[in-house]
Amino acid sequence: MRASLRLLVVPLALLACRAPAPSSAGLRSAGPAIPARRAVTFPDGWRFKAGEKAAFGDRFMIASNQVLASNAGSEIVEAGGNAVDAAVAVGFALAVTYPVAGNIGGGGFMVIRMADGRSATIDYREIAPLAASRNMYLDAAGNPTNESIIGYKASGVPGAVAGMAEALSKYGSMSLAQVMAPAIRMARDGFVVDSSLYYSLRSSSGYLGRFDAKDVFYDNGEPLKPGTLFKQPALARTLQQIADQGPSAFYRGTVGDSLVAAMQRGGGIITKRDLEQYTALWRTPIKSTYRGYTMFTMPPSSSGGIVVTETLNILEAAGDSLPTWGTAAYAHLLGSAYQRAFIDRNSKLGDPAFVNVPLEQLTSKRYAQSLAKTIDPDRKTPTPSDGAQIVDGMHTTHYSVVDDKGNAVATTTTLNNGYGSAVYLKNVGFFMNDEMDDFASAPGKPNMFGLVQGEANAIAPGKRMLSAMSPTIVLDPQGELLLVVGAAGGPRIITATSQVILNVIDYRMTLADAMRAPRLHHQALPDTLMVETNGLTTEAEAGVRRIGHAVRYLGGLANVNAVMRVAGGWEGVSEPRVGGTGGTSAR
Ligand code: DON
Repeated sequence: MRASLRLLVVPLALLACRAPAPSSAGLRSAGPAIPARRAVTFPDGWRFKAGEKAAFGDRFMIASNQVLASNAGSEIVEAGGNAVDAAVAVGFALAVTYPVAGNIGGGGFMVIRMADGRSATIDYREIAPLAASRNMYLDAAGNPTNESIIGYKASGVPGAVAGMAEALSKYGSMSLAQVMAPAIRMARDGFVVDSSLYYSLRSSSGYLGRFDAKDVFYDNGEPLKPGTLFKQPALARTLQQIADQGPSAFYRGTVGDSLVAAMQRGGGIITKRDLEQYTALWRTPIKSTYRGYTMFTMPPSSSGGIVVTETLNILEAAGDSLPTWGTAAYAHLLGSAYQRAFIDRNSKLGDPAFVNVPLEQLTSKRYAQSLAKTIDPDRKTPTPSDGAQIVDGMHTTHYSVVDDKGNAVATTTTLNNGYGSAVYLKNVGFFMNDEMDDFASAPGKPNMFGLVQGEANAIAPGKRMLSAMSPTIVLDPQGELLLVVGAAGGPRIITATSQVILNVIDYRMTLADAMRAPRLHHQALPDTLMVETNGLTTEAEAGVRRIGHAVRYLGGLANVNAVMRVAGGWEGVSEPRVGGTGGTSAR
C-alpha cells in the first residue's frame, strides 16, 4: 500500500542537512529572505527521494542538460560576461555536446530579465518555408504522412543563430567570437562521449542511419562509444565562420549555401530566399502575477506563456490556497485547469502575424474566474471529442542562467524530435529540425504529441508553428528574482514548468523537491489525466477515478532545468529524470 501523501509542515531550517548555505561577508546580497521551505513526503514507490540537496553557488548558477555546456556558461561569467553572454555560450555549446536537442539547425525562445529591471523576450522560432503549403503533409486520403517528422521536407527555416546573435547584440556585453569560443573549442578539439550520448544514439540508430549522421556518429552502425574523444571538424568550421562573420555566414553565406544545396539534393524546400528573409523577433513578455509573485513568460508564437498564465490564473481564482499537494482534489483541480487552458490553446493560438490571438482575454484574471467557476469539485468535465494519443518524448532542451549581478535568462531551444528530422548536414556539421510537425498539418487530427489543433495553427508560408516552450522568470512579492525555469517535453513543457512554480510558491518546497515531485499532465485531448508512474497514492488515484478522470501513467514527464534564489546565493537543479550528463555549473 502506498502511504498517503501529505505536506509535513516542518520548516527545513530545522533539518540540519537542509540548512541554507550561509551568506559570506562581502558577497552581493541575493535579495530579501525567501519564506522557509517545507518538507514533503512523496508517495511510496515514487522513484525519487524527498530532501535531496541542490547544487549551490553564491555568485551565479547555470542549469542545463549537459554539464560541459553549463561549464561553457560559467567560463563566460568568470571572464566578466553577463547572463545573456553566458546563455548564448551555453546555447552554442549545447549544439556541440548535446546534439539530440542542442542546435543551430532549429529554433527557440529566450526570456531575459536584467537586474536593472528591463525585461525582454526573443522569438527565434523556425518559420515555414515560402514553398510550404497547407496540405503538404497529407496523403491522397487526407491523412498526415510522416514527412513532417522525418527527412528533408520536415524542416522549418532555422532561427537559432539569428536569435542568439540578436539577443547577444542587445543585452550581451561580449562579442559573438568570445561567447562562441568554448563551443568552437569543443567541436574542434573534441569532447568525451558519455554513456548518455551513446544510449541516445543507440536508440536513434534506426532513423539516423537513413541519413548522413551514420558516417559521423556511428562506426559501422555502432554508436560512438563512451570515452571516445569526439571531434566535429565540419561543425567547428561552421561555428568559426559564424563567430567571424556573424549570423550572415549562416543566412547569406557559405553555411546557408551548403544547407540549401543539401535541401535540393534531398528533396527539401528551404531556399536561399527563405534564409535571407529569416528574422528573430523581439516580443513584449507576458507579465502576469500569481499570488503576489510576478512572472515573465513567452508570448506567441509560443503558446507556453499564455497557457502557463491562464492555468495559474484559474488556480488562483479557484481559492485562496490550493488543496493539499498530491491529493485527489489537487490532481483534479490541476488537471481541470490545464484542460481548460489547453482547449483555448489548441483552438485559438497560432502565429500572431497570421491569426488574431486573444492574448489579453486569455491571460486576464476575469476570464480565469469565469473558467474556475466551471470546475465542479465532484465531477470531471469531459473535453468535447477525443481520439488523440499521447506520445512520450523529451527532446528539446531548456537552460536557466543567473549571473553574479542578478541578471537572468530562461531559454528553451529545440529541433523538435530527438535529432530533429534526422537529416544531418555533413558538410556543415549539424542536424536539421522537424519543427513543421508542430503545425496542425491536418487541423482536427493529432500531431506527434497527440495535440489536436485547429485552423489557427494551420501551415502557411512564412508562418511560425505554434510551440509549447515556456521559458519563465519569476520574481518574489518584493520584486526580487526568485526562479528561472522551463522545460522540454512537447505539451508537457507547460504542465511541468507550471508545477515547479506551484511547488515553490504554494507548497514551499525546496527547488530539489520541487523538481523531484511527481508530475501530472492534461492537454484537453486525449481527455486523460496523465501521471508519472507511482506518482499518485492509491487513495488519490481512486479519488480522481471516482469523479470521472481516466488516468494514464507515463514513464517520465518533461525535462526541467531550474535555478532558484536561496539564502546567500542560488540553487540549481538539472532534471533528475534524465540523469546522464545534465548538470549545473556555479561559483
Ligand atoms: O515547440 C514545441 O512545443 C515542441 N517542438 C517541443 C518539442 C519537445 O519538447 C520534444 N520533446 N518531446
